[in-house]
Amino acid sequence: MTLILGIDTSCDETAAAVVEDGRVVHSNVVASQVDIHRRYGGIFPEVASRQHLLCINPVIEQAMVDAGVEWGALTAVAVTHGPGLAGSLLVGVNVAKGLAWSLRLPLVGINHIEAHIYGNWLAQGHEPEFPLVCLVVSGGHTELIHMAGHGRYRLLGATLDDAAGEAFDKVGRLLGLPYPGGPAIEQAARGGMPTAFKLPRAWLAGSYDFSFSGVKTAALRLVRKYQPEADSGPGTKPRAGGPPAPLVIRDLPTANLAASFQAAVVEVLVEKTCRAAEEYGARTVLLAGGVAANGSLRAEIERLSPVPVRIPALEYCTDNAAIVASAAFFRLQAGEQTGWDLDVVPGLRLVADRE
Ligand code: KG4
Ligand code: ZN
Repeated sequence: MTLILGIDTSCDETAAAVVEDGRVVHSNVVASQVDIHRRYGGIFPEVASRQHLLCINPVIEQAMVDAGVEWGALTAVAVTHGPGLAGSLLVGVNVAKGLAWSLRLPLVGINHIEAHIYGNWLAQGHEPEFPLVCLVVSGGHTELIHMAGHGRYRLLGATLDDAAGEAFDKVGRLLGLPYPGGPAIEQAARGGMPTAFKLPRAWLAGSYDFSFSGVKTAALRLVRKYQPEADSGPGTKPRAGGPPAPLVIRDLPTANLAASFQAAVVEVLVEKTCRAAEEYGARTVLLAGGVAANGSLRAEIERLSPVPVRIPALEYCTDNAAIVASAAFFRLQAGEQTGWDLDVVPGLRLVADRE
């Protein structure tokens, strides 16, 4: 039995987890900083790294207690070393090194995007079948990836501007919804009509790339038209220290705009993913990353995919460390481990470039 302690401090969640054989989660502890960053309307990097420092030891101890395992039972220590915020990543990487060194265990540095993909191996029973196509949609990434086997990635397309989650967050802020915008837009959209506003879809014919700047600008224009008081403008600073913006989901233009924006983003993501699955003869379609928590995206991809779809349970979509431990299991199985010179790589990529 392989028991891996996973650690992730890449963004605004301090996370530790113990996972058996890359699939069975014994514990998964996440200390979220979302309430702290909400008052700034986004992540404040210096605050994030200081918060990681405060939380990391108790979070790791809690993961070990929840799992009911002794330090001596661990097989390896895995940690996200990029992509992410440098100061935040540093906390996790240094703690992981110290632990692995003192316990004389192998250290495994993991790419955060790969970790998100491996959320699909957690607690699902039936394994995803290769070759597969995976849509990774998070706050920092929108990538369509072909996977021929474990660790064998090919980039089919990526966003040319904002990540999908970033677009949700920005439009959420425009609508006066609280941070993070993704879940807030999904909630607001429940009271609205997805056909209320015609928002542009960037099809970028002949490519699997994405672009969300057009739909974002169109949303901004509509906000100006319907809710001039809610528009803080693209260049203005969020209200540091101010109260969280009010959530006005009963306001019809807000609900309709949220629903129309969500529909525009989901339609393009789903269409391109399904087309890639057909073109590349995928046997499975995977979703991964924070935006994969979106109910409308989950339902639409299930409805339209030509092949079976796998989507991580909600808790393994947004940032956590169980996904890091899972990815590390497959790396270790392939005979890989990382040297003590492991460093943070804020701009780390999973696949260098499109082929
Ligand atoms: O994967 P994640 O937790 O962190 C990164 O690695 O970026 O993703 C966070 C992103 C945020 O942009 C958040 O707004 C978005 O995922 N998100 C959602 C939903 N839940 C989280 N977007 C749309 N609908 C959701 N339900
Ligand atoms: Zn993430």
